Amino acid sequence: MAGSKRPDTSNVLTGETKKKLDAVFQPIALTDDVIKRIMAVYQEQMRLANSTDEKVRKTSDHLMMNTFIRELLDGTEQGVYLGLDLGGTNFRVVVVKFTDGVADTKTKYYRLPDAVLSGLSAGVFDFIAESIEDCLKLEGLSDSKEKIPLGFTFSFPSIQISLKKSTLVTWTKTFKCPDGVGEDSVAMLEAAIERKCPGLPVDIVVVMSDTVSTLMAGNYLDKRCRIGLILGTGSNAAFVENIEEIEKWTGDYQDPKHVIVNVECGSTGDNGCLDFCRSKYEKELDQHSNHPGSFTFEKSVAGLYLGELARLVLVQLVQEGVLFGGKQVDLVERRWALTASHITAIESDEGQTTTRTKKVLEEFGLDSIATDKDVAIVREVCDFMSRRAAHTIAAAMAVLVNHVGRPEVTIAIDGSLYERHPKYHDSMMEIFEKYSPNTKVTLILAKDGSGQGGAFAAVSALKQNAKGIR
Ligand code: GLC
Repeated sequence: MAGSKRPDTSNVLTGETKKKLDAVFQPIALTDDVIKRIMAVYQEQMRLANSTDEKVRKTSDHLMMNTFIRELLDGTEQGVYLGLDLGGTNFRVVVVKFTDGVADTKTKYYRLPDAVLSGLSAGVFDFIAESIEDCLKLEGLSDSKEKIPLGFTFSFPSIQISLKKSTLVTWTKTFKCPDGVGEDSVAMLEAAIERKCPGLPVDIVVVMSDTVSTLMAGNYLDKRCRIGLILGTGSNAAFVENIEEIEKWTGDYQDPKHVIVNVECGSTGDNGCLDFCRSKYEKELDQHSNHPGSFTFEKSVAGLYLGELARLVLVQLVQEGVLFGGKQVDLVERRWALTASHITAIESDEGQTTTRTKKVLEEFGLDSIATDKDVAIVREVCDFMSRRAAHTIAAAMAVLVNHVGRPEVTIAIDGSLYERHPKYHDSMMEIFEKYSPNTKVTLILAKDGSGQGGAFAAVSALKQNAKGIR
């Protein structure tokens, strides 16, 4: 159970040190009241974003984008489909071969060079086009006579206009291209294919966020899956909504009467609605981030930020003389040096074990000065900050679970933070047990679901096109 994985530092930390740690943790602790307020705020942002009145919609910092994806897989699928996954550090091309509804998936990873991440957007799309070409060659599909249907997972806030048209609102995470905003991501990719590898046998039939593709992948694994969540570099969620519930719905009302909605909630709090629970660490992190003043909620819960949040707490403890004897160590100077991988390693030490924590400290040249007390403090800080982040995202997901309102709901999660962090799962479950008491919530890992689900969504798009569903 969750409890047994927690650090046991009772043999090392004195009452005095514990008091000092408590003084740091207590002001930023997520009490029941704070969790309830986060849930209320999240629900209200969903409501506002659903309005038919554009002025009201604009007061919300959720996009609540209808994806127009309505068909889920039904087990009869056949043929070859492609999925692309752009959004994190690695770009993925996924080939899915269906035989009677069973998917055989192959994934190829391509690392985007830093220069591409901050260069002109054409460079990003050229890179993608060339990677698709490379993957098709490796898979013996370059000479395919028929165009292969492709689902493009493009994980940046976008305004979805139809299945295969969506315009970029802003780049986020590690992407800092100076252009591309307001452009149609599918058109940009089609232009790059034309430029770099004309005649490539692919047909882009749908574009979506990674949350949507993860939901598709999760629903393939477990039919109770109605929510897709990303907990990786960034964080965001999607869910299956009844079209009758969507005030601003612009599609038709024929069956199936549901659609996947991309909440696009990383930006919750950008309008100040979460100020009541933002810590000074979150505010400082924001000032030094790639996109200051935006993606407030994501900066509290996602992998790109967790290490830095913990580091900022450690810095304060050094400055107060509680940690490392108050010495001005390297870690204090180096913003972003502590990453989610370090936190994951430290959090893998259970009970009184300290092996992995010591290894991380060694990496920062701290092994010679770190006392047992310092090791224990580092563990307590990582444990506290991890739980705080996991509880925050789970509070938001509890709102979605309650909104979906089914007796059993599975949430499919993709992303390295959820996959590798040993305690995120258990910490999240603590919140569902308390705040979604009427639903049996199951969390499943949909590994690489964001790419695979892109190919699945291509299947949906073709089915819908054939039936004339909009
Ligand atoms: C960022 C993007 C969002 C994506 C999420 C997870 O929040 O804006 O579209 O789903 O990261 O990758």
